[in-house]
Amino acid sequence: MTAPLDQKNMDMSLKHVRKPLAHDSAEKHVRGTATYIDDIVEPMGTLHVVPGWSRQAVRGRIQSVNLEDVEKAPGVVAVLTADDIKGINDCSSAFGGDPVLAEEEILFFGQVVFAIVGETREAARKAALKAKIDVTPITPILTPEDAVDADTTVLPDYQFRRGSPETGMQASEEVLSGSMFIGGQEHFYLEGQIAMALPQEDGGMLVHTSTQHPTEVQHTVAKVLGVPDATITAEIRRMGGGFGGKESQANQWASLAALAAQKTGRTCKLRLDRDDDMIMTGKRHDFKVDWKVGYDTSGKIRAVDMEFLARCGYSADLSLGVNDRTLFHSDSSYFYPDALIRSRRLRTDTCSNTAFRGFGGPQGMLAAERLIDAIAIKLGKDPLEVRKLNFYDGERNLTPYGMPVEEWEVMHDLISQLEESSGYWRRREEIREFNENNAVLKKGLALTPVKFGISFTLKHLNQAGALVHLYTDGSVHLNHGGTEMGQGLYQKVAQVVAEEFGVSLDKVVITATNTSKVPNTGPTAASSGTDLNAMAAKNAAQVIKGRLIEFLCEQHQCGPEAVHFGDNKVIVGDQSFALSEIAKHAHMARIQMSHAGFYATPGITWDRESVTGRPFYYFAFGGACAEVTIDTMTGEMTVDRVDILHDVGHSLNPAIDMGQIEGGFVQGMGWLTTEELVWDEQGRLRTHAPSTYKIPTASDLPEDFSVKLYESSGNPKETVYRSKAVGEPPVMLANAVFCAITDAVASLNPGEVPDLHAPATPESIMRAVQDLRRRKAGS
Ligand code: MTE
Ligand code: HPA
Ligand code: CA
Repeated sequence: MTAPLDQKNMDMSLKHVRKPLAHDSAEKHVRGTATYIDDIVEPMGTLHVVPGWSRQAVRGRIQSVNLEDVEKAPGVVAVLTADDIKGINDCSSAFGGDPVLAEEEILFFGQVVFAIVGETREAARKAALKAKIDVTPITPILTPEDAVDADTTVLPDYQFRRGSPETGMQASEEVLSGSMFIGGQEHFYLEGQIAMALPQEDGGMLVHTSTQHPTEVQHTVAKVLGVPDATITAEIRRMGGGFGGKESQANQWASLAALAAQKTGRTCKLRLDRDDDMIMTGKRHDFKVDWKVGYDTSGKIRAVDMEFLARCGYSADLSLGVNDRTLFHSDSSYFYPDALIRSRRLRTDTCSNTAFRGFGGPQGMLAAERLIDAIAIKLGKDPLEVRKLNFYDGERNLTPYGMPVEEWEVMHDLISQLEESSGYWRRREEIREFNENNAVLKKGLALTPVKFGISFTLKHLNQAGALVHLYTDGSVHLNHGGTEMGQGLYQKVAQVVAEEFGVSLDKVVITATNTSKVPNTGPTAASSGTDLNAMAAKNAAQVIKGRLIEFLCEQHQCGPEAVHFGDNKVIVGDQSFALSEIAKHAHMARIQMSHAGFYATPGITWDRESVTGRPFYYFAFGGACAEVTIDTMTGEMTVDRVDILHDVGHSLNPAIDMGQIEGGFVQGMGWLTTEELVWDEQGRLRTHAPSTYKIPTASDLPEDFSVKLYESSGNPKETVYRSKAVGEPPVMLANAVFCAITDAVASLNPGEVPDLHAPATPESIMRAVQDLRRRKAGS
C-alpha cells in the first residue's frame, strides 16, 4: 500500500491537523491496556445480569412464566420481570414498540422475558435455563414477501416521484425488469453489548455503557427507572466497535443493568454472551428490490421504477431513517429523468433491524448498480461505459429528491483517474482473453462509483456540543458529545483543539464521553462525528482563546494581530510567554478559561412531509475497481485486485482516513460475499456464532490492494479544515466486488443478466451460474 501523504494538501503552518498521526489509543489497543467496560475494576459486591428468554418460542402469546426454579438456583440474588419496571417498559429510540422485558407477547425468537441478577455471571447463566415459559405460538411472518402478503408494516410507505415514470417507461426504446435480494449483516463488533450501572446517592445512577448514543441511553434509563434525566449519567470512553449496532440497541442492556442496580442497590453489570448478542440484536436491513428501467439503445436511462421491500423486524427502531437513506441512495451516481422510488417498511417476527454503517445507503446503491449492469449486459456494452453515460453532470445534476450534485466534476475526475490508474481497459481485454481460454475459471472486472450524502436526514440530529477547559499549567481538558468506537474521532478532535491553542498534543487530555459534561447530544453516526464535534470543540477553544487575547491586548496595550499562539507559547509583540504563564495570569485576573462550544450544520432544509429541501450538507465521493475470479464448478471466488480512490476533502488525518477506507471496504466486501444470515422456517437465527457466520479476516484482503486518497482541492463547504466525512462511504466501494462477480458470471452467457443475489457466497454464485447455463441450454 502506498503512503497516504498527500503533499499538496499539507499546509505547512499547520502543526497537528492534516498529519498522519496514529490513533490516540493505538499503542493501548495493541498492548491490551485500553480500558473497555469489562476491564473497569468492579466495585465490591458487583452483581451480574443475564437476560432470560424462551429457547422454544418464536412468536406468540405468553400464557405463563414460571421462574420458581430460577429464583431458587444457587447464586441468584434477584429475578427481574416487567413488573419491576417503575417507569415505562420501552427502550425504543423514537417510535415505541421495544419492551425492555416482554409482557404479554413474544415478538421474535430471542426476545428477553426476564433477567437474572446473580453473584456471578456463570450462576446467572445456569439459572436462566431453569425458566418455564409457556407460549401459544402464532405462525411467524419471516420474509419481506410474507409481510407483503400479510400487509404488516412498522411504518407507513414512503416514496420519491419525479416526472412521469409511466410515460417515460412507455417512451423508452428498451425496458428491463428484475428482482434482487440483498442480505443483511451482523455488526460483529469485537466488544459485544455491555453496560455497568453503579447506584449513586438519592436514586441516581452512573451507567458505563458501550453506546454510540450516550444521551439516548441516559434518557432511556431514566424513563425505564421512572426518574428524572438529570439523575442519570451515561459514560463511555471507547467501544470495541459499534458500526451502528450500538446507535439505539445499547439501550436495552443499559436499562436492564440499571433496573437490576435499582432493585438491589448494588453495582450491576450486563455483558451479553456472543450468541445471545447475535440472536437478540438487530442487523443491517435485508431487502427484496423489484426494479424496472427504461433506456435508449445507447444505454441512457429514461425512467426508473424501484420498490424496496425492507425486512425491518418486529419494531420500527431506526427503520424510518434507514429506509429513507436507501431511497436517497437508490440513484448511486446516476441521473434518472423520470423516477418512482418506493419503500415499504415491513414488519416481520424477527429481531428489529437497525443502523449499520451506510444506514440503508449501500442497499439502495447496489440496486442502482444492478440496473446499470443489466442494461450493459443486454446491450453488450461495457458496464463502465453505461455508468459514465448516466453520471450526473453539469446539466443533469438534480437527484430524484431535488438536491443538486454540485461537485459532479469531482466525481467525473475521480472516476477517470481511477479508470487510468487501474488500467481498466487493458485489463478488460486481458480478462476477455482469459475467459475465452478457461472453461472453468472466469474472471470479472468492475469499476463502480460512490456518492454518499453527509448529514443526518433528521435535521435536529445535526448538532454537537463540546466542553473545553484550559488549566493554569497550560494543559487542556477536552470533552465532547461524540463517541469513540475505533474510528479515530477522539484523535481528530484533539488535533483540532491542539492546533487552535497552539499546544503540543500531549497537553490535550482526551476524556470519556459523559452526559453530565455535554448534554442532549445526537448519536455518533451518519459519519458526521468529526464534522460536528470537531467544530463544536474548535468553537469552545476559539472562545477561550479569544478571552485570553482580549486580556493580553489590554495588558500589553496592543491589537489582537500582535498575539500568536504556538509551540505551547504565546507571542505578544516581541515578547514570548509560556502558555502556562499566560493561563496563570488570566486566572488571577478572573478570566473564565472554560467554555461549552456548540455547532449546528448550516444549510440543511429537508422537509420529509413535503419531500422538498436539501437533506445533505455535501456528498463524499469515491471509486473502486475490483477484479475477481470465480470457479464455475464450485462457486469459489477470489478477489484478485482492488484499486480504490476516495475523496476525504482535505484529510484531517490521512493515516486514520486510510484505515477507515480500508476497513469500510473490507466490511462491505464481507457483507456482499461471505456474511450470510440464515433464519429457519420457524424464525430462529441459525448463524449466531463465528462458526457459522463468516466475517472477513486479514487473510481475506485482496492480494493486490491499492488505496489512495483523492487529491482534493478541499471540501467546498466550510467543514472543519475543509475535510470530508469518511466513516461510512467506503463500505459502498465494495459494490465493485459484487459487480465484478456479476461480470464474471455474465461471461458464461453473453446478453443474459445473471440472477445473482447478495451475499454472493459460493452457493449464491453457483445458483446464478447454473441458472445461466440452463438458460443457455434452453435457448
Ligand atoms: N470504525 C471503527 N473502527 N469502528 C466502528 O465501529 N463505525 C462506523 C465508522 N467507522 C466504526 C468505524 C460507523 S457506522 C460510523 S457512522 C462512523 O464510523 C462513526 O464515526 P464518525 O462519524 O466519527 O466517522
Ligand atoms: N448513518 C447514516 N445516517 C444516519 C445514521 C447513521 O448511522 N443514523 C441516523 N441517520
Ligand atoms: Ca448486532
